Amino acid sequence: MKLPIYLYGHPVLRQEAAPITADNSGELKKLVDDMFETMYAAEGCGLAAPQIGKSIRLVVIDADVLGDEYPECKGRKFALINPEVTILEGEEVGRNEGCLSLPGLSENVNRVEHIRLKWLDEEMNPHEEEMSGFLARIVQHECDHLDGKVYMDHVSTGRRLLLRGKLRNLVEGKVRCDYRVKSASRR
Ligand code: NI
Repeated sequence: MKLPIYLYGHPVLRQEAAPITADNSGELKKLVDDMFETMYAAEGCGLAAPQIGKSIRLVVIDADVLGDEYPECKGRKFALINPEVTILEGEEVGRNEGCLSLPGLSENVNRVEHIRLKWLDEEMNPHEEEMSGFLARIVQHECDHLDGKVYMDHVSTGRRLLLRGKLRNLVEGKVRCDYRVKSASRR
């Protein structure tokens, strides 16, 4: 089932999301399926649960579509439950990022290129892996959502000032995009 995507400005995107426990893992599979379906329909490569209005620590990623440009993304599809990112040594690199909660916008964001990620899969099995490049960027972007952050928070104040009209339109739900959305002002 496709779910509406919550737009920039909605308070759920600013909440610290709650960890998932073994108790609610039963409903998880359906939610993971729905989030993948929602993400594919909107042509995204990552989606965090707060973006569909659920303040829980769950992310889905399918980065395969970027595999030609970024080999580290090839075949990488997974659901992350309670992910924990450790920033490893390395300089920050700037690349363009977009977000399904901010349709029509993309901005240069500086992030480190190398991380260690710990997470649980849908069966609550633990995983740990070092990731780099654009895959590490997607993971950092999605995990930010679980801490109430969006990529625009990493953009300079001056640049955000220039975009303030567009950001206001998102808050007011004045957007045109091909997927169903929910704005702060039209809940
Ligand atoms: Ni996003």
